[in-house]
Amino acid sequence: MSKDKNVRVAHLSDLHLAGKNDRRQLERLDLLLAEIVRKEYDHLVITGDLIDTANTEDWLLIREALLRHGLFELGRTTVLPGNHDLINLEEEMRFYHALNPDVSGRRRRVNDRLARFCQVFLPLISEDGQGPAGYPLVKVLRFGEISLALVAVSSVLPWSGSDNPLGARGFVAPEILRALVGQPVIDALSGSFIIGLCHHAYRVYGTDALIDQAFDWTMEFKNRDDFFGTMKLLQARLVMHGHFHRFQVYSVEGLTFINGGSFRYSPERYGEVEIDAAGNWAHRFLKVGETG
Ligand SMILES: [Fe+2]
Ligand SMILES: [Fe+2]
Repeated sequence: MSKDKNVRVAHLSDLHLAGKNDRRQLERLDLLLAEIVRKEYDHLVITGDLIDTANTEDWLLIREALLRHGLFELGRTTVLPGNHDLINLEEEMRFYHALNPDVSGRRRRVNDRLARFCQVFLPLISEDGQGPAGYPLVKVLRFGEISLALVAVSSVLPWSGSDNPLGARGFVAPEILRALVGQPVIDALSGSFIIGLCHHAYRVYGTDALIDQAFDWTMEFKNRDDFFGTMKLLQARLVMHGHFHRFQVYSVEGLTFINGGSFRYSPERYGEVEIDAAGNWAHRFLKVGETG
């Protein structure tokens, strides 16, 4: 593809930043963000698990890093939350499980954290910085002749001792998926190259290797087929996700999924999608410092 007027999107996932003393990780993040700026990517997508410790103050470190590199703008960056952002697993297991079997509390705690996430990252979610803004998030960005649409959901299922013991299973509420295929969204997306974004992995079995087969249900995206159906109805061309810390590209019935792996474990690696005006696209994983 010719580089002329093409749109280039960089993709990171699963930063799992562990606080302000996690200096090495912050330095690596600075290196990568500097590269993204130097290579003039049109947009950056981060598909969840920004932090590791469930301390929501740590989101501020990510926000500051984006600000330092001039990337903390609606048109420059899109983020969405992962399970490590919205569930404090230790707290759930230690306190609420034993003392409070109330299911609505689990949902409320996830929603409260999601509201805080939206506050911290508001300029990446809402054009005028006004509420109500949140997820699902539909962003339509115009780059010359190319219109790029990002459709992001929060796929975090509240913790539950029996159904979600590690807080790692995914779920998107049916009413959210229904709202996404309503006429206002369809109209807004018309003519755009559409990329769906979520945290959880559609596919968790990457290969036939025993290690993959041993992968268990505790990490699965429970209603992945409903999400998949929604993406097909919207005519999404790609879905980007994270969660299952592996760099992968796979296709399901003509829809390509890109797993952005984990910046935590492979901080030198990231993904890139290049889209041309005819709607052709190409993806590759790169290493920091790699040219071409
Ligand atoms: Fe993760
Ligand atoms: Fe995750």
